[in-house]
Amino acid sequence: MTEMTPTRPNTKKLFIKTYGCQMNVYDSDRMTDALAPHGYETTLDMAQADLVLLNTCHIREKASEKVFSELGRLKELQTERRALGGDMLIGVAGCVAQAEGEEIARRAPVVDMVFGPQAYHKLPDMLARAEGQRHMHPALKKAIIDTDFPEEDKFEHLPAARKEVTIKRGLTAFLTVQEGCDKFCSFCVVPYTRGAEVSRPVHQVLAEARGLVDAGVKEITLLGQNVNAYHGDDKGRVVGLGELAYLLAEIPGLERLRYTTSHPRDMDDALIAAHRDLDILMPYLHLPVQSGSDSILKAMNRRHTAAEYLAVIERIKTARPDMALSGDFIVGFPGETDQDFEDTLSIIREVGYASAYSFKYSTRPGTPGAGLSDQIAEEVKTERLYRLQELVNAQTTAFHLSCVGKTLPVLIERPGRMPGQVGGRSPYLQAVHLEGSTDLIGAIHPVEIIGTSTNSLVGRLKQAVAA
Ligand code: SAH
Ligand code: SF4
Ligand code: F3S
Repeated sequence: MTEMTPTRPNTKKLFIKTYGCQMNVYDSDRMTDALAPHGYETTLDMAQADLVLLNTCHIREKASEKVFSELGRLKELQTERRALGGDMLIGVAGCVAQAEGEEIARRAPVVDMVFGPQAYHKLPDMLARAEGQRHMHPALKKAIIDTDFPEEDKFEHLPAARKEVTIKRGLTAFLTVQEGCDKFCSFCVVPYTRGAEVSRPVHQVLAEARGLVDAGVKEITLLGQNVNAYHGDDKGRVVGLGELAYLLAEIPGLERLRYTTSHPRDMDDALIAAHRDLDILMPYLHLPVQSGSDSILKAMNRRHTAAEYLAVIERIKTARPDMALSGDFIVGFPGETDQDFEDTLSIIREVGYASAYSFKYSTRPGTPGAGLSDQIAEEVKTERLYRLQELVNAQTTAFHLSCVGKTLPVLIERPGRMPGQVGGRSPYLQAVHLEGSTDLIGAIHPVEIIGTSTNSLVGRLKQAVAA
């Protein structure tokens, strides 16, 4: 062994803190994969990390501000590590990095790197540059900033998901197939932080899915800010999400397929037909409508009416009668009247959601909504959010109760909270707990639903053949 060879190549520790949506979760895993060949392995203890990455979210003000308080905490940890003779490099990735770039480095000089979602394949290179500055006088150090939208496809340059990392991730995995958004809803930062809509080519998606299944994954959730706008290239031909689902269904060993998030305008016939034809495509769809009022939908630039949304749902339910629906709602968009809000409650009553996420409108700099007059008072937003959530919670409870007495196929994923228990998910994405041995983990078993608890179902293993 020469002096130059490190005795233990994997001695550097990486800690990634992930905020925001599932696409950030996926991206954090890909950054982990990209850094592994450079000697970084993950730690669960931030204080032990040689490199801390914050993968940030800009969607609402609160999400965005979290970054700066975390950076304050990191500065202290960094000082402690330096006092002990170590160091800690700090990078800010994700949507706040993309939106605020230089501003972050200015507000928080502790940061070594600021880079947006389209620069992740360049991370090892940025890191080498940051490491090169390690022993410079602080006044001479300059944060490395990369918020370009490059021409090249970052996925071509990111390493394939590593088997050992995939196994740690378990039986379910995310797979980003589409990024960015061209819809420009007037409240939303995504088109600015993630850029224009881009779909990964079909061969890339299929290869990644096969790799995941080889590593033991049984369920894949396809991700995209606008996943059903997917239009991937297949040797010069354009393939939509519906057709992609049929192609994925042919992978032996892949048992469940989901996708999120969809836009109502992109629920095309091929995708709806896939729900009719493919057993692996799970009967749970996250299809946000945001508001039930046509005038608010117009002001939001959603480009569909409440009636058009309901018509899409009807087509989906015709193809797949047991489809469980989920949605997103914003209360207090500028100009929202009491009647507009009542229209939102009405559409919720009409659809009957299995689950839903709801938010108070948050003004985002640079979006058209930020310039609108008629901003709604905070206490009105709070009251509306409360009423909406009460309605949705009642629907979720009713949905859970409607499952009692049924036998559902449950993918058993992990040991339960109590000894002798295991847990998994129903086709409708409900958490299910049951008594059973850990030998059940890794496969889909028939489970009779015998009760509900706050956010989950209680089941009993059916020894008989699957219902
Ligand atoms: N691409 C998805 C959603 C992306 S963001 C879609 O088109 O539906 C996730 C959710 O955050 C949105 O559906 C919306 O309900 C909410 N959201 C986005 N911008 C917001 C804002 N400025 N204030 C409050 N909620 C917002
Ligand atoms: Fe944002 Fe609208 Fe695009 Fe969804 S469709 S990411 S809400 S701009
Ligand atoms: Fe947030 Fe960016 Fe996702 S703003 S919701 S992390 S796309």
